[in-house]
Amino acid sequence: MIAFTLNSRPCEVEAPPFAPLSDTLRERLGLTGTKVGCDAGDCGACTVLVNGAQACACLVPTAQAAGAEITTIEAELPVLARLRAAFLAHGAAQCGICTPGMIMAAADLLLRDPAPTREAVADAIGGVLCRCTGYVKILDAVMDATPEVAAMPAAGGAVGAPIARLDGAPKVQGTDRFGADEAPADALWLRVVRAPHPRARFALGDLEAARHRFGLHAILSHGDVPGRNAFGIMPDLKDQPVFAECEVRFRGEAVLALVGERDAVQAVRDADLPIAWDPLPALHGVEAATAEGAPLIHAHAPGNVLVRGRLTCGEVDRAEAAVTAEGTFRTAFVEHAYIEPEAGHAVPAPDGVGMEIVACTQAPYMDREETARVLGVTEDAVRIRPTACGGGFGGKLDVSIQPLLAVAARVVNRPVRVIYSRTESMASTTKRHPAVLRARMSADAGGRFTAFELHGDFNTGAYASWGPTVANRVPVHASGPYRVPNVRNRTSAIYTNDTPAGAFRGFGVPQAAIATESLVDDLAEKLGLDRWEIRRRNAIGHGDVTPSGQVLHASAGLPQCLDALKPDWDAMLARVAAHNTMATRHRLGAGIACMWYGCGNTSMSNPSRMRVVLSRDGTLTLFNGAVDIGQGSTTVIAQICADALGLPLSTFRFVVGDTALTHDAGKTSASRQTFVSGRAALEAGRDLRRRILALANAGEDATLALDGTRLHVADGAGGGRVIDLAAMDEDLEGEGRYDPPTTALDAEGQGIPYATYGFAAQIALVRVDTALGTVKVEEIVAAQDVGRAVNPTLVLGQIHGGIAQGLGLALMEEFIPGRTENLHDYLIPTAGDVPPIRVHLVEDPEPEGPFGAKGVGEPALVPTAPAILGAIRHATGVTIRQVPVLPHRLWEALHVR
Ligand code: FES
Ligand code: FES
Repeated sequence: MIAFTLNSRPCEVEAPPFAPLSDTLRERLGLTGTKVGCDAGDCGACTVLVNGAQACACLVPTAQAAGAEITTIEAELPVLARLRAAFLAHGAAQCGICTPGMIMAAADLLLRDPAPTREAVADAIGGVLCRCTGYVKILDAVMDATPEVAAMPAAGGAVGAPIARLDGAPKVQGTDRFGADEAPADALWLRVVRAPHPRARFALGDLEAARHRFGLHAILSHGDVPGRNAFGIMPDLKDQPVFAECEVRFRGEAVLALVGERDAVQAVRDADLPIAWDPLPALHGVEAATAEGAPLIHAHAPGNVLVRGRLTCGEVDRAEAAVTAEGTFRTAFVEHAYIEPEAGHAVPAPDGVGMEIVACTQAPYMDREETARVLGVTEDAVRIRPTACGGGFGGKLDVSIQPLLAVAARVVNRPVRVIYSRTESMASTTKRHPAVLRARMSADAGGRFTAFELHGDFNTGAYASWGPTVANRVPVHASGPYRVPNVRNRTSAIYTNDTPAGAFRGFGVPQAAIATESLVDDLAEKLGLDRWEIRRRNAIGHGDVTPSGQVLHASAGLPQCLDALKPDWDAMLARVAAHNTMATRHRLGAGIACMWYGCGNTSMSNPSRMRVVLSRDGTLTLFNGAVDIGQGSTTVIAQICADALGLPLSTFRFVVGDTALTHDAGKTSASRQTFVSGRAALEAGRDLRRRILALANAGEDATLALDGTRLHVADGAGGGRVIDLAAMDEDLEGEGRYDPPTTALDAEGQGIPYATYGFAAQIALVRVDTALGTVKVEEIVAAQDVGRAVNPTLVLGQIHGGIAQGLGLALMEEFIPGRTENLHDYLIPTAGDVPPIRVHLVEDPEPEGPFGAKGVGEPALVPTAPAILGAIRHATGVTIRQVPVLPHRLWEALHVR
């Protein structure tokens, strides 16, 4: 028994003395508000107060808490109430997984210093990582001593209102339920045994004897999969096994799963299991995989080429070229680093067929399809209930734990739960594709772009995942958001023995933009043009034709973005010039970059369906299958539906993501939920409104008001009637469906790949220490055309978060399998790394979008890295063509000629 004071009350708990306090709080005391992102003191998600000072609960042995005063997010303290209100008001909680730790770290400071400086706040929260927000709104929230949460808008006023996220309260209270926060009491634990080699053959020994020896309920291998031992994103390419059969293709691949009591599965050493390994030479990187005579990783992929993408327009070889720039660019594996590792549980149905999976995900309907195939059952036998999702960014689009849990629960016929460790999450799940990009760009003497050519090889790792999507999206976007009459883009997704690469915010476009924007800077330099000027001269806009032959009829706001940035750009250049006349070692530089990004899947149907129900008991419920991974779709889609229907947002209830209760809204990816699902919600709201008006025989301009079960319908003439919902035979229901109008691309990449595009430009100011090769980003100013900002607070949060991830891509993040599988070797930006960010929101309405809105999430990331690279070049004169620009790389470029 260990005794301490917990949230001002005496507490006694029976726990192993060396058990981490975070584990004791969560598993023995049920206080799951304290989150665990790493179990190693790196992420800060587990931050609590120990005797009033912040501490990582995962590093505190429970015995050390004896006699201490422990305060967690669940405490009722005035300082926590203030911070909760401020986090809500400022939109400082996105996915919310870091929020409890962030609030506790801020409370530590505010208890000592009620009016801290911004620097002191950044310092205080510096040990807590947030992957979503870019920290800007967190700092705003902690600084705000008198937060005011925006009032809920009246009917018709939801779109455009900067309201707090509707699902925000549980996030700031620590009561939101993430994948690791719930499981049936009788659930067994699952632990995956993974390949220690990137390529090897193996043979399994007597697993049944091992099961007995270790006191486990089951040791699962490929032979236990009741259906097909394969999954994958592409309908015709299920190339990844749930459990490897005889051969592994990357380090971290699942080979076995141990199922049993928690202590039992954790006590087993992998080396004691009967697996005989025969390591083989591995192919790392695209050069090795495409070399003459390289062994085939999959029999179906000659030359280890998974897929090729292409786009051709005009005649690149005949284009006028007063000036030409070219280069080869390299990018690294980038880890999503969501703070919530994969977690969840499965519950088998008593009929021996059905299965319920409760887990974090970005794609519940795809999870259902994949799980059903693995179980060998029909899709309607599988129910996916998404938990809160502690960040995704594309990394939770692929199934990970779902098939494993389903197979285990089926075999042992009991609920089974799993929580990936940080290392396991990083070693086994997808990454951003590393790319080798060879690009060339030409312009005429007047600075008009005439031709662009790119050859890009993308390392898709051991399995296909989203490789085809990357290979097809990049050719469309690679020439940038510019008028370029002659384009020839070729891409390949290459199999290797590296960690599988998949979806990550931008699907390859951020990598391509690094190459393109660097060449634009080269051309500007050769022509003696200002870098803003050459972009403005070539910026694509209304009425222009894209390289795929698509006419941009509307919502093409790049020129407006650049115009919005011009005063900031001029001021930034002046500041740099003034500073650099005096400075020698520390030099400033300014950079600029543009981007465009197609919203939704490339040339593929990607529909969404929404349903809104006004019940006879007077409840109004939006059944929304789009999972909110922190970006705010639950709130934004409801805002849209409320205004389409004409009832106040405050009257809505929500059911989100459950495959048994909602329609398929598609995946939360490709910046599609506001645009596609938002439009479906608009149609659903309008549909219900039409039914109500028809019932009331009221005109289009009628106003609605709900009072219990009485629905008041007043038309413009002042007349009206009351519908008694309780007296009706059935509920009133509205449905909406939307599928963006696209066309297939032909063999040369011609067609309409996306219904609409987001546009943005950013400028960055950096300070380079030329003696050390270090780079500090001092300021970023962004301008982004979002069509319509349905919720400006959430839109800004997306832009801030994208910029922070772009900064990491540019300067910090390089995943190396086997070497950086934790958050102290793999660095992501902290509060101290993200500079002040200013944003100009440009609203060039998209006629297809709901109230003019289009996607926001991915576009914000794309221009950041190229703008930072341009700024480094401006500061130093050195062009860097490999990211991340780690200090040793820049130092070498500066000093080793
Ligand atoms: S879980 Fe404790 S620091 Fe990450
Ligand atoms: S809100 Fe901070 S990690 Fe998601």
